[in-house]
Amino acid sequence: MEEAVRLIKDSQHMVALTGAGVSQESGIPTFRGTDGLWRQYDVSRLATPDAFETNPSLVWEWYSWRIGLISECRPNRAHITLASWEHRGLLKALITQNVDGLHQAAGSKNVIEVHGSIHHVRCTVCRYRGPTPVQIEGIPVCPECRAYLRPDVVWFGEALDQSILQSVYHHLQSADVCLVIGTSGLVQPAATFPFIVKFLGGHVIEINPDRTPLTDISDVRLAGKAAETMARLDELVTGT
Ligand code: OAD
Repeated sequence: MEEAVRLIKDSQHMVALTGAGVSQESGIPTFRGTDGLWRQYDVSRLATPDAFETNPSLVWEWYSWRIGLISECRPNRAHITLASWEHRGLLKALITQNVDGLHQAAGSKNVIEVHGSIHHVRCTVCRYRGPTPVQIEGIPVCPECRAYLRPDVVWFGEALDQSILQSVYHHLQSADVCLVIGTSGLVQPAATFPFIVKFLGGHVIEINPDRTPLTDISDVRLAGKAAETMARLDELVTGT
């Protein structure tokens, strides 16, 4: 813990990479943990372009269920601490694989959502993008061209948005500390981000109760849950 505090206090350009584990204590299931969604549901039927083409109703039913679940969850101390560190100028960018919007709900502004957001939709035909409808019945259609809308998230087999990736790499190049919270480090390209920071001479701090493929390159491993570990770190870093 002391080494993590020292690295964070000395940093000039700290970035964070978060995954599903950061929202676990808020009540949102992870994908690959013991309560993981991909242990109960078949990813190929729910989160791929083929799945949407084959059965858009099923995909929307699953996303509606997740939107309902997320709407009942609140940010935890990990989200809140990251927002307060950004406010203090300590955290320069928050790169998240999460689509739940809890970082923004906690007050974070510079959030780079590499896998999109469940709170937005886009048209499958035209360029329309907009907020996810409050009431979803069946398959929502585009207000401009009446084609099907889809969740504005990245599905398996799809490329990440190039301008978002550019912004990520811009921050990774300057980063002297990368705080990695609650990700299994199994999904690319996000899993590579801490390697880039490390390769360029920065330090990696991992917060996760379990070991991951990122553990071995981490300078500090804090083996614990995100909310309680970030609360403790916040006390030591800011004295609050
Ligand atoms: P995973 O479900 O793969 O991994 C969650 C990680 O969080 C695991 O390493 C757990 O050990 C850890 N964890 C669980 N509870 C925790 C807690 N309370 N505090 C800290 N860590 C905890 O989730 P991601 O790594 O985010 O992609 O998954 C990456 C991507 O795979 C997701 O963005 C999603 C998924 O399929 C898309 O939807 C495109």
